[in-house]
Amino acid sequence: MAKPKPGKIAATRNDLGANVREASVGVLNAALADTMDLTNGVRMAHWTVRGPQFAALHALFETFYDQLGEATDDLAERVVQLGGTPDGTTQLVGEKSRLPPYPPGLRDGMDHVKALADRYAALAATVRAGIDTTGDAGDADTADLLTGLSRTLDKALWMLEAHLG
Ligand SMILES: [Fe+2]
Repeated sequence: MAKPKPGKIAATRNDLGANVREASVGVLNAALADTMDLTNGVRMAHWTVRGPQFAALHALFETFYDQLGEATDDLAERVVQLGGTPDGTTQLVGEKSRLPPYPPGLRDGMDHVKALADRYAALAATVRAGIDTTGDAGDADTADLLTGLSRTLDKALWMLEAHLG
């Protein structure tokens, strides 16, 4: 197998064509940066939330970042399987995330719920678009991975929005 060139897709025995793999790596890396960014937002919420619903929200946010942590690992490992390099460093996440920055001053439980609901909805929308992009390109496995993630994000969004009445 040829040595990977910087920025290029590496050779692999995976039978998907290099152009298909390159397209999927782009979609996966974009989702990876957003998911890692959202993970840190959820952790901030877990750490700083205050108010009468503290116990419930503190625990819910822990469940959420555990889910996102698993999703991050799946996205990054699929990038590598396809011959790409994950955009997974703190610096790359900061540079590439498409989510609005998480406000560090939030404390009130419902303010955190609203901020997270906005970001979960934004990530769910781009992940859902990625299902079609990768499926149409011929990478059913990446489309399936993104489908699972979008289901997780939709469920979390439902739980967040249920707090808002
Ligand atoms: Fe904790």
